[in-house]
Amino acid sequence: MSTPLLQTRSASKHFMGLKAVDEVSLAVNKGEVVSIIGPNGAGKTTYFNLLTGQLAPTLGEVSLRGQVINDLAPHQRAKLGMGRTFQIVKPLIALSALENVMVGAFLRHPRHADARDQAMAVLTRVGLGALAKRRAGELTLSERRRLEVARALALDPEIMLLDEVMAGLNQSETGRCIDLLRSLHEELGLTFLIIEHNLKVVRAFSERVVVLDRGRLIAEGTADDILSSPEVVKAYLGEGHQWTPS
Ligand SMILES: Nc1ncnc2c1ncn2[C@@H]1O[C@H](COP(=O)(O)OP(=O)(O)OP(=O)(O)O)[C@@H](O)[C@H]1O
Ligand SMILES: [Mg+2]
Repeated sequence: MSTPLLQTRSASKHFMGLKAVDEVSLAVNKGEVVSIIGPNGAGKTTYFNLLTGQLAPTLGEVSLRGQVINDLAPHQRAKLGMGRTFQIVKPLIALSALENVMVGAFLRHPRHADARDQAMAVLTRVGLGALAKRRAGELTLSERRRLEVARALALDPEIMLLDEVMAGLNQSETGRCIDLLRSLHEELGLTFLIIEHNLKVVRAFSERVVVLDRGRLIAEGTADDILSSPEVVKAYLGEGHQWTPS
């Protein structure tokens, strides 16, 4: 068994008495697409924050390629190959789409012209090439989501962590976004760990699904294993989530 690309051992985050993430052990191998699902407040975003260094774990270990990275800051983890998007989209609204992506591109391309070229290539890749000069504040939700993907991609990551990157998109926008992620997976060999409420997306894109509930990892399996069981979905996700077996 080769060393997992990204791994946690008993990763936990306690906020006062609340165990937001409770001893989650998970390994993501290079080239995999893994989805994390679970009800609101299950600890999904908090778990991402432990992975990318926005939060320090109360207990447990985060490692990248077998190296423990608990003490590394977010920008150091980015340099080691972790890119992420945020659930709350935070573009720099006064800057152009291109400038937003350049912020990420500077990590590996210190020269302005190189960062600009890299950012333009990434914007083109996500289908925003024609909107490079548009201010981020003037983009539609769907375009802002693509911009988020572009900002993460500009870090030239080995693994992408996407936090509900398709939330709020309509069906055709969601379809195009899945196509984009699939192309990044197949053509660039990127590894993905995604938080996703839309089970159609989970089924279409991921090879393995992990269920978090009240901070704990309660089930893990193939998308078909997890999603073909309405009981599992009802018990773990409750009512009101998109559950559209097809
Ligand atoms: N900084 C914080 N301080 C205190 N409690 C927090 C903090 N961040 C998150 N929590 C709590 O931790 C729990 C997990 O939150 P988290 O945002 O990780 O859930 P989630 O699974 O991402 O939910 P959603 O599907 O709504 O995005 C929630 O009860 C939340 O209120
Ligand atoms: Mg969340």
